[in-house]
Amino acid sequence: MDAREMKIAAAQAALAHVEDGMRLGIGTGSTAEEFVRLLAEKVAGGLSVEGVPTSERTARLCVELGVSLKSLDELPELDLTIDGADEVDPALRLIKGGGGALLREKIVAAASSKVIVIADETKMVDTLGAFPLPIEINSFGQASTRIAIERAAERLGLTGDLTLRGSHDGPFMTDGGHFIFDASFGRIPDAEALGHALHAIPGVVEHGLFINLATLAIIAGPQGARVVE
Ligand code: 5RP
Repeated sequence: MDAREMKIAAAQAALAHVEDGMRLGIGTGSTAEEFVRLLAEKVAGGLSVEGVPTSERTARLCVELGVSLKSLDELPELDLTIDGADEVDPALRLIKGGGGALLREKIVAAASSKVIVIADETKMVDTLGAFPLPIEINSFGQASTRIAIERAAERLGLTGDLTLRGSHDGPFMTDGGHFIFDASFGRIPDAEALGHALHAIPGVVEHGLFINLATLAIIAGPQGARVVE
């Protein structure tokens, strides 16, 4: 199985958890998009679900493929969310936000009774942190926010570069109109403590540590998909 086939295998296994009539949070990223493609086939075959997308990018794909959408304000409580991840540890702590949708992804996950993470096995890690941690920030005062993040991380024994996401065209802007720092702290032994410390900084809108949100993960490898819970 190549990387894409593993994503499809995880998405296919997640589809078995989707029931007729569900209010469904729909994630962002290449793995979540494989899920949307499979879901759209089921919808074309008669499955009825109402989806809440976690990004404008996912919304566009759903509309293109005929998956019916509602806003989170129309459906404030969801039965199930299916989303990808950048890293998953054995306790189902996640790093998310590689695709820049972490804020909406976290709001949607928190509004869901169940959250299923779909990923290929390269995303499984013993300890979070090899993937740079996305931190969504308000654009106002970004230099001060950077210093505050660095100091908070240092107090937890973490050092590393904070890179403002973007290109020569300018900073990447999230669907909420914010910027993202990608923080290369390396191994994060206490993700809960880092999460609390980041939330205490006024310029931080949200961070990509997802703790106590995932119900189970479906991890696909060359031999097929397995469940971690
Ligand atoms: C987007 C995310 C994605 O779920 C994460 O980046 C994984 O993406 P992919 O499935 O393309 O590897 O958090 O904000």
